[in-house]
Amino acid sequence: MESERIYNILVTGGSGFIGWNFLNYIFNNNALKYNVVVNLDAGDYSAINRINLNTEKYKFYSGRMKDLSESIIENYNIDLIINFAAHTHVDNSIKGVYDFVSNNVLEMSVLMENARLIWKKKNIKGLFVQISTDEVFGSLEDQGFIPFNEYTLHHPNNPYSASKSAAEVMLRSFMHTYNFPSIITNCSNNYGFGQHNEKLIPKIIENCLNKKTIPIYGDGSQCRDWIYVDDHCEGIISAIKKGKIGNSYLFGGDKTISNLEITKKICSIVDKETNALSPHESLIEFVTDRLGHDKTYLVDYTRSFIDLGWFPKTKLDFGLEKTVKWYLNKE
Ligand SMILES: NC(=O)c1ccc[n+]([C@@H]2O[C@H](COP(=O)([O-])OP(=O)(O)OC[C@H]3O[C@@H](n4cnc5c(N)ncnc54)[C@H](O)[C@@H]3O)[C@@H](O)[C@H]2O)c1
Repeated sequence: MESERIYNILVTGGSGFIGWNFLNYIFNNNALKYNVVVNLDAGDYSAINRINLNTEKYKFYSGRMKDLSESIIENYNIDLIINFAAHTHVDNSIKGVYDFVSNNVLEMSVLMENARLIWKKKNIKGLFVQISTDEVFGSLEDQGFIPFNEYTLHHPNNPYSASKSAAEVMLRSFMHTYNFPSIITNCSNNYGFGQHNEKLIPKIIENCLNKKTIPIYGDGSQCRDWIYVDDHCEGIISAIKKGKIGNSYLFGGDKTISNLEITKKICSIVDKETNALSPHESLIEFVTDRLGHDKTYLVDYTRSFIDLGWFPKTKLDFGLEKTVKWYLNKE
């Protein structure tokens, strides 16, 4: 039997929501063997999480990929890069595209180029994992109502998803031109601990607690495929361990639900947990829809199931309850 590989790991964006959960997942579950794990995070507004680990095997660098990735890859002989770093909020991308192109495409390309050149120079057998999103496929109706899979053509509908799509295109060009060893993962909407309150679920909880109105775009009928963040992390680990270089793997939560429905679910969990006298659902207020708002996302993760043995384990109701309790305790 082949012994498990021991990596020198670089995680970018490890102080953001998913990157931080991924670091915790590795440390708490011994999910990967490593000599060192380096977290490189620019400390943007969504970098709200910290890892408190007293070990020489974990290093944190505050800085941008374009500035620090070369020295980190070189000095730590990094051979596994998991790139979470990005600007991620669709609304912000609609207000201004510069940060999205600059972080998600240009800096991501600098990261890849640094890895490519150093791996070549040092003859390192590396692996680059690009954390992408199902939003690159657009809305289900753009795809003839066929759930997204690894052969679905990209149809990004907003500057955020376009920048993530562009990053994938750059990566594909590296795979083809330089045989750059990489895997892409496309995941649906994540929920769980440590997400910035600009995003739907923490925003609902926060507004419930502050008795503020809960703004819902349009009529709230947009449907999202929600996945518990640990299931996503497990998918990334299984792609690293069992995935085929050059492939994409899709991860989804098996549960598509409208924004209005999930809002009501969260409100009722908050009602229960806080012994509310009146339902928080009354705080819901419908507001003008987001420009170019995708109607529905739906992921077909058959390849991940067959090739990686992966499937989402956390049922939405259970995961939401855990999540709401975490935010309430934090408050
Ligand atoms: N949140 C989701 O539902 C979801 C779903 C699928 C895929 N993704 C992808 O997962 C990744 C992480 O998403 P998230 O929700 O955790 O985002 P997030 O906004 O919570 O975290 C992103 C982190 O990246 C850091 N960062 C940004 N630009 C950087 C740069 N140039 N150099 C170094 N660090 C930088 C930020 O400081 C932040 O800590 C993103 O690439 C996103 O596209 C997210």
